[in-house]
Amino acid sequence: MAATADTLDVRGEFPVLERADLVYLDSGATSQKPRAVIEAMDDFTRHHNASVHRGVYPLAVEATDRFEAARSRAAAWLNAPARGTVFTKNASEAINLVAYAWGLDHVGEGDTIVVTEMEHHSNVVSWQLLARRVGATLAYVPIDDDGRLVLDELDRLLERGPKLVAVAHVSNVLGTINPVAEIVARARAAGAVTLVDGAQAVPQIPVDVGAIGADFYVWTAHKAYGPTGLGVLHGRPELLESMSPFLGGGHMIASVDEQTSTWADIPAKFEAGTSPIAEAVGMGAAVAWLQGIGMERVRAHEQDLVAYALERLAEIPGITLHGPRDPRDRGAVVSFALDYAHPHDVSEIVARRGVCVRAGHHCAQPLMRRLGVPATTRASFAVHNDRSDVDALVTALHDVHEVFG
Ligand SMILES: Cc1ncc(COP(=O)(O)O)c(C=O)c1O
Repeated sequence: MAATADTLDVRGEFPVLERADLVYLDSGATSQKPRAVIEAMDDFTRHHNASVHRGVYPLAVEATDRFEAARSRAAAWLNAPARGTVFTKNASEAINLVAYAWGLDHVGEGDTIVVTEMEHHSNVVSWQLLARRVGATLAYVPIDDDGRLVLDELDRLLERGPKLVAVAHVSNVLGTINPVAEIVARARAAGAVTLVDGAQAVPQIPVDVGAIGADFYVWTAHKAYGPTGLGVLHGRPELLESMSPFLGGGHMIASVDEQTSTWADIPAKFEAGTSPIAEAVGMGAAVAWLQGIGMERVRAHEQDLVAYALERLAEIPGITLHGPRDPRDRGAVVSFALDYAHPHDVSEIVARRGVCVRAGHHCAQPLMRRLGVPATTRASFAVHNDRSDVDALVTALHDVHEVFG
């Protein structure tokens, strides 16, 4: 039986939600943390803290075991090899790692990098920096008026023989779930390397990195009920092995002499310096916690909530809802515009009822230009939300209509 919006009774597991009248609808920006994650990090810091991979004394072995167990758990969860699972600072750094460590050696003068109109700046600016250095250009797969990628245009761009295709799995503004396995297959057939930005997808839908088949898949722990400070790059091991390091420092070398060095095996080659150890442990706890719920249930819950939100929001006068109309084709994000109020005013007024939504360009300015708006208001949902949170948003939006409408 499909789970419905009110079946995941987990709100009580989030300490911050004990604050009275808090309707947190900004998990797309960063998720709240369940007690299991907070306690795992606290336990690690109190009882097991040491630098990893260096010491042979028991405390260091315990720390290393816990750190590596988090890597293995995340990799197994998403069906990716642990050897190809690299820890970074966040999703942005994971994309930059690929842009520098792979891109500088493989992208050159006159080459094309294909991205889409719905990318987060992380998946645009990182490639612009590379393109500027090497003399390449970015080309954009457009979206249609329903907020979906126009795949015929992707095919036209693939005829140019791009070096790389980089695409979001789930849009952080439109919510669109992109057919990434199909896009990766087409790009690979055209000889392009592929990167999928799974920052929004991993906390929202079941993800099978192996089945998607991308060369690189990135995500970020803080949007997936884990801590800030830890991003994840799943790379195809052969590709990672062939790449130069991104950052130099301790831990990433095999040997160092006065003029040259050789590199450690992957993933260590890409993890210079002391790692975010407690953060990795927290990420592992977040993954275990999500596994306990089951991503199919998370998805069913949030899809139902988004369907309910789309239905209820339609009753607000003068509202434009962005993104696919069909909730089956979108993740847990709903962006909208009111034709009489700026998104910043909207978010300020709904905040008076404790409703936390994000207003702005959502780090997606090319998409804002495509939509013809400077900004949108975005409500994003998580496992702890239920229909009463949608009702609270709708009530608060009626306030906005009273003030500005
Ligand atoms: C789709 C998408 N990609 C990338 C990012 C960047 O994530 P981070 O801030 O962890 O680098 C975000 C964050 O908003 C996002 O929504």
